[in-house]
Amino acid sequence: MNISVIGCGYVGTTTALMFCELGYQVVAVEKDSKKLAMLQQGKLPFHEPGIDSLLIKHLHRGSLVFTGDIEEGIAHSKIIYITVGTPSLPDGSSDLSFIEEVSRQIGAAQNDYKAVVIKSTVPLGTVDKVREWIGKAQKRPLPVDLVVNPEFLREGSALYDTMHPDRIVIGSDNPEAAETVKQLFHSMSCPIIVTDCNTAQLIKYTANAFLATKISFINEIGRVCDAYGANIEEVASGVGLDHRIGPHFLRAGIGWGGSCFPKDIAALINMGNNNGINLLIVQSAQQVNQDQIGYFIDRLEGELHGLNNKTVSIYGISFKPETDDIRESPALKVIAEVQRRGGTVAAYDPMVFDKHPELKLPGVRVARNMEDAWKGSDCFFLITEWDQFSKIDWGQVMQEMRTPLVLDGRNVLDARKLRSLGFRYYGIGRKTGIIHE
Ligand code: UDX
Repeated sequence: MNISVIGCGYVGTTTALMFCELGYQVVAVEKDSKKLAMLQQGKLPFHEPGIDSLLIKHLHRGSLVFTGDIEEGIAHSKIIYITVGTPSLPDGSSDLSFIEEVSRQIGAAQNDYKAVVIKSTVPLGTVDKVREWIGKAQKRPLPVDLVVNPEFLREGSALYDTMHPDRIVIGSDNPEAAETVKQLFHSMSCPIIVTDCNTAQLIKYTANAFLATKISFINEIGRVCDAYGANIEEVASGVGLDHRIGPHFLRAGIGWGGSCFPKDIAALINMGNNNGINLLIVQSAQQVNQDQIGYFIDRLEGELHGLNNKTVSIYGISFKPETDDIRESPALKVIAEVQRRGGTVAAYDPMVFDKHPELKLPGVRVARNMEDAWKGSDCFFLITEWDQFSKIDWGQVMQEMRTPLVLDGRNVLDARKLRSLGFRYYGIGRKTGIIHE
């Protein structure tokens, strides 16, 4: 069985490799010539653990071929996966221009029946547009079925998540097409839900909105912990033991970012607005997340009595560890807010600046190593919980910082140890009012 995958970002490349692992012959189409050249040489244009070796394996075997020629990709298979980006527009709606472009190309190149599977996260109603775009571009009327098969992978564990999904969701208005796609996953043991297109898409939006709401909820409770000297980690594990709530996505911190949560939450709110539905809970989750940055920076400003002539060292620029992705990263918002309030920023990230030498953060001093960022600084501000930040020699930091202040945006540092060394340490909901426990 042949499968084509159009768009080789995180989702597309991982999907292509998953299908290779399941034994299919895959052609993956990438229009960016630089990315294409890298992929053809077995190099990933992004960082994702575990994928490199699989990429080389399937390139060698010939089970995976990358091409820039979309017509070749379309001719190769009856099943065409669309995995292009759907970024947010300023009003929260999704930019469907890549989906439209690919749809028109599929229609124009089509010579026989195709099942077009949309894996990109698209607003409800998009399937009809895709059908129309394909139909209009066809040279003569040809049959096409539309299927949606949303992706639930997390960056940093993309491969594992794709190979061990909690569930697979397939939506189509044609049960036969849904069955064809379902059969692709016959060797996987997880539940497979087959439903209509809108329901399948809403499962994806609801999952992301629910997870983001869980985080915003625990972050809000973290503020109550701060007010009363309670411990958020114990609160989270205490409530997480209730199997109706569960232990996951209850880690309090500086808030959620990334390529999915902010975009999907904005799109869901937008879909509500378009239908006169005020999604109060989802809007609040979004608001709490935005406010979380200010919550930390109010603390910073208070501790330093203003940020003028103060240097804040930001540790971690990517939106989470083990990725070079800075889309909607809390770090960027923190930097902008520190600068807006008059502070200066030094930044360190173990991966982002190496992978993206072109990245310019105006006014920010990019540190070459961890030590370089804290020297002479007034605050060590951890934003992303890279593993190496938990192995720092805090005695050395104490000697080299100007002000011994640590803000832990992920609640991962050893609060007791830092406080006993004389640091003023603040996470969220970590008995913040108490300097020495
Ligand atoms: C998310 C969903 O988990 C995934 O199912 C979907 O397909 C895409 O969006 P991803 O954005 O890659 O995946 O990362 P995830 O691990 O979910 O983290 C998202 C954000 O939430 C990060 O900024 C992370 O730091 C934050 N987070 C996560 C918390 O602040 N607390 C938590 O308990 C969990």
